[in-house]
Amino acid sequence: MRQRGRKEEILGLIGFEIFIKTACLSLGFPVLRELLKLCIKAAGYSYITKENLLPFLFSPLSLLCIVLGLTAVAVLLLFEMNTVSLALRQKRAGIKVTFPGLFYGGIKKTKILFRKKLQGALTAFLVLLFVAFVSLPIVFFLFFGIEQTKGAVNMAMRPPGLFILLAVTVSVWWVALLGCFFVLLSGTENGDMQKLLKMGIKGVRQFRGRIIFGLLKRSAILFALEIVLYFAGLALMIVIVLRITPEMVSAVILMRTFARYHFIICIFFVSVNVVIYEYFCASLFFGQENRETAPCPIEENMYAQAYMPKKMRVRKKLLSLATAVVLALAAVEMVVFFRNGNLFLAEALEEVCITAHRGASGGAPENTAAAVGLAIEEAADYVELDVRLTADGVAVLLHDAALFRTTRIPKYIWEVTYAEAAEYDAGSSYSADFAGEKIPSLEEIFERYGGEIGFNIELKVSDDRALAETVVELVERYHLEESCVITSSFYQQLVWVKELNRELKTGYILSFVYGDFYKSEAADFFSIRASFITEDVVKKAHLLGKEIHAWTINRENELKRMKAIGVDNIITDKPAYARKVIYGGGLAETIEEWILLLTPKK
Ligand code: G3P
Ligand code: MG
Repeated sequence: MRQRGRKEEILGLIGFEIFIKTACLSLGFPVLRELLKLCIKAAGYSYITKENLLPFLFSPLSLLCIVLGLTAVAVLLLFEMNTVSLALRQKRAGIKVTFPGLFYGGIKKTKILFRKKLQGALTAFLVLLFVAFVSLPIVFFLFFGIEQTKGAVNMAMRPPGLFILLAVTVSVWWVALLGCFFVLLSGTENGDMQKLLKMGIKGVRQFRGRIIFGLLKRSAILFALEIVLYFAGLALMIVIVLRITPEMVSAVILMRTFARYHFIICIFFVSVNVVIYEYFCASLFFGQENRETAPCPIEENMYAQAYMPKKMRVRKKLLSLATAVVLALAAVEMVVFFRNGNLFLAEALEEVCITAHRGASGGAPENTAAAVGLAIEEAADYVELDVRLTADGVAVLLHDAALFRTTRIPKYIWEVTYAEAAEYDAGSSYSADFAGEKIPSLEEIFERYGGEIGFNIELKVSDDRALAETVVELVERYHLEESCVITSSFYQQLVWVKELNRELKTGYILSFVYGDFYKSEAADFFSIRASFITEDVVKKAHLLGKEIHAWTINRENELKRMKAIGVDNIITDKPAYARKVIYGGGLAETIEEWILLLTPKK
């Protein structure tokens, strides 16, 4: 009987958790993304950089969104915590624990807490503190990674560090725990805040030994389990990448995949840990074995019954409908994420993004499908492609107006139709290995590679609005707005692009730096010849919320200089090499050690 109760409780909670987390993913994530875009725009920026972060955070709309966002998170956490405690107490009262029962019971309990506004706000704040506190180790690990965490642990283990750590832990610990108990107890005293606080404080004091050791023991097990999971996942990732990618680039791909893996698994741990901790605290406080000594001896049956929703049949149907909607939305969101997710993560996680110039033109003929394929293989974030129109108005990939250099045809691109251009050999002049490689249309490239890499489309003609129109139409038709930027050395082209679609990101290409170029309204970033970029140029642009992209860099020294002065994107013919130089060092060596460890040479 007890076993069955436990199984039901866990299943009910798992159902609830899956629903609530999927809902957050499918509804919360797009809302957050759109709000962020809106705030960036309202603050007058195109991008957030290190230099404009503070003014951005303190702009009126950002502040409002931060307050609203934190409130939403706090209420959601409160709801989750209420549900966890309800599951535990329904089980103790012998009431069947179900997902709909928990969902509606949790809402009812949360509503009661908010009947008194101050009480609701205080509880929500305490819950936020509790969650921030229990997630702190993983959040630190998420932002600072393995090396820094190791350093921080070493520092904390020395006498002064240990003292500070203990002092901070002990003081925040009590407040955080108080928040947890405040929620757990709520509803038992008809919402009398003073009584609740008193009981909470009494509970925390009375049970401190059990709580501290209970939580420490459980934390140690939980963290040990997560460390094992983290490294097992890493090993699995290395084995898979080594199997599916060519040996030459596998280390580079692993460097890139590692950042994404680290980010996703840490976010997963944070969201799981919060529930587990809530459950730990609830069971330590209301645990079966301590029933007689619980600080708030109340009639469990009455308590649990008080949160049993009425008219469950209709409510169950409503919840099933909501579950179906949430699952469908999550599926759509997944598709959108995987189509643009690579870039989203690259821009959020990487210091410098890497763009393959004219495709990975160091290893394949420029502006061909082979060069785009190689850029993807070499894990570039973006591929830069030059675009012109044929006589019949088709956008094709071509750098020079004359076809001769790459195809040996003595004509200009505006003299031939797309059907004719598609006959020419754009590979042999590079190497016999690429004989037969064609001049591709932009549409072909979108069709074949859309969603696999970001595109930097350079409009090569100055006075033809049709070029901007054709490219924007293609980007919209293939839904690549989030993974495309459009660049040109002709400012008017960018003005046309913005007229056609304000949301598209644009970059002004400059061969040298002059005057007040930062203020060019129609440009979200500047793509500048590397030799003209200085730290000052980067800082000035960043303060205005604009990025600096640097071209075309293939040498180690220049790559390192660009990283040091903080450019946002490096355009190179050799994306894999550039990544090794920029992100090499400690991480590259660790990954190489792991590769050797997992694939010992016979
Ligand atoms: O994106 C900037 C860079 O491509 C400019 O050089 O001559 O290769 O188009 P180019
Ligand atoms: Mg170009």
